[in-house]
Amino acid sequence: MEAKHNNPQNHTGNTHEETHSEESHNSGYHMGVFDCIRTRRSVRKYKDKQVPWDNIVEILQAAKFAPFAGNVLNCKFVVVKNEDKRKAIAETCAQQYWMQDAPIHIVVVGEPEKSERYYGARGGRLYTIQGAAAAMQNMLLTAHSLGLGACWVGAFDEEEIRRLCNLPENVNVQGVLTIGFADEVPEMPPKYRIEHIMFFEKWWGRQGPYPKTGLGLWAPVIEHGFKETKKMIKKAGNKIFKKKDKKDATEDKKIKEKQKDETSAYQEYYTQDDRKRN
Ligand SMILES: Cc1cc2nc3c(=O)[nH]c(=O)nc-3n(C[C@H](O)[C@H](O)[C@H](O)COP(=O)(O)O)c2cc1C
Repeated sequence: MEAKHNNPQNHTGNTHEETHSEESHNSGYHMGVFDCIRTRRSVRKYKDKQVPWDNIVEILQAAKFAPFAGNVLNCKFVVVKNEDKRKAIAETCAQQYWMQDAPIHIVVVGEPEKSERYYGARGGRLYTIQGAAAAMQNMLLTAHSLGLGACWVGAFDEEEIRRLCNLPENVNVQGVLTIGFADEVPEMPPKYRIEHIMFFEKWWGRQGPYPKTGLGLWAPVIEHGFKETKKMIKKAGNKIFKKKDKKDATEDKKIKEKQKDETSAYQEYYTQDDRKRN
């Protein structure tokens, strides 16, 4: 099923520690993966507009394609559209009332027993959380790429959601996602510079393999960018000049044909006998 892509959203963000140019991004799969990751924002204001069903299916497909330890998909998804239930969920999520305006809630439910069977306690505790988290991130990104807004909600009363959604005892709530058409363009919150979150080889290892230029860690990226741009310019130049060459060749051919015509006319004229010429 091909999902319908919604209206483009303009994700305008300010610049914080990292300088990002936040141009407008069209929704849909034209958006590169990194652009999608970078421009996704947590949306907490929604329009009173239904989300097309095929979009919801697409979002759930994205969850399914997330990595799961040993490919054991051990979470399930409860799609909530009912208004009263959404209100109750918003209440139980630490009274985050903005949630009730999102036309769709997806309750992400972990099934720890499934992972436990293969990986023991580690599977039950760690892999269940990690698989659900990977699925949730995939869903957020897919929602964004479809032109929808979404937010990951982690503050919830598990027992209350269990009661609201009829969840059995052997499963647990991993999170709630709100989904809908955004009625806000959130600014990018402060994000760390890459240098502040990475080390080389060891904790606090600051000595990197990259040349120490003014460009710092970005040197290889910028260098690559330069090379690619150079290639692009060369390619475009070749294309233009080839076109020109082709154009010139046809012009030359036309002139030659004309000259040929004229020559043969003269030849004909001069080879005629004199009487005929007059
Ligand atoms: C585990 C987790 C729990 C979260 N819980 C909430 C929440 O209860 N309410 C909320 O409004 N946002 C919640 N968020 C969203 C974060 O606040 C948001 O991702 C963060 O502020 C960065 O903003 P951004 O998503 O626009 O980059 C949660 C995110 C994660 C990953």
